[in-house]
Amino acid sequence: MSPPSPTSATRAHYDNPSTDTFYHTIWGGSQISIGIYEPPTLSLAAASHHAVERLAARAQPITPSTRVLDMGSGYGGAARHLARTYGCHVTCLNLSPVQNERNRRMNALDRLDKLVEVVEGSFEDCSVLKEGGYDVVWSQDAFLHSADRHKILDGIDRVLVKRGGKVVFTDLMEREGADPQALEEVVKRIPVDHYATPEFYRGGMVERGFQDEGFEELTGHLERHYEKTVEDLEAYEEGLVREGRGVEIDGAYSEKTKKGLRAGAKAAGSGSMVWGIFCFSR
Ligand SMILES: C[S@@+](CC[C@H](N)C(=O)[O-])C[C@H]1O[C@@H](n2cnc3c(N)ncnc32)[C@H](O)[C@@H]1O
Repeated sequence: MSPPSPTSATRAHYDNPSTDTFYHTIWGGSQISIGIYEPPTLSLAAASHHAVERLAARAQPITPSTRVLDMGSGYGGAARHLARTYGCHVTCLNLSPVQNERNRRMNALDRLDKLVEVVEGSFEDCSVLKEGGYDVVWSQDAFLHSADRHKILDGIDRVLVKRGGKVVFTDLMEREGADPQALEEVVKRIPVDHYATPEFYRGGMVERGFQDEGFEELTGHLERHYEKTVEDLEAYEEGLVREGRGVEIDGAYSEKTKKGLRAGAKAAGSGSMVWGIFCFSR
């Protein structure tokens, strides 16, 4: 039997009941990407929300007529924030049916389902989306799962308006020239074929005619986020977290997750991993 494709391995990872409980109970529930710890005492959920606000500041102007595409949207936390704050329309493109279902339910509960649309699909194939149909393309910590990021950049080029569009995203990356051994344990936690580098994105976007509005490196927050996630997972295991437990997190899953997160914190601390905010315009 041939091994699963990177896309189906990613879908299986996020649809796994332990993964779903881990993300919606521990990682913050609505936003499941890396947070910005300013101040350092912020919870995972508050820091993750702060990161959304930082990206939104880079994506301005956002008005009620702005059409946003969130690539790899998870449970749709960023989409709801943007729709609630600016009254804009957001399309969530995401691979995982389990996450998409939760996203739709949260949108309906928050009465934002008229502004937030959820489309099941892969950001490696944007042909289902309208050419030039978006003013802002947004993504947080999702492109790491791609085995062919040229397809993502081509897709962004296709769906963004030809003039006046903005692209803002974050990704977990490796530093150019990093020792591959430093990342060995990190990639065992989640399906990652290989990490990109900041140079890949900046070069690839400029080649496609985008203006580079600057990369804000924030790797220190990646280290803090991974450490904090391990602390919170341990508190969950000790029974200190009661809310939203639903399906319990499997013990083997938990061990693998803690090992990968500790390795990630170490790789971020030693500079082998990089995280930060990209912004491009045209
Ligand atoms: C770490 S989560 C981040 C989710 C969301 N951006 C957030 O900040 O909460 C990564 C997300 O990427 C999505 N994803 C991974 N590969 C994808 C693909 N090829 N197409 C669309 N979504 C994908 C996963 O389903 C998951 O929701």
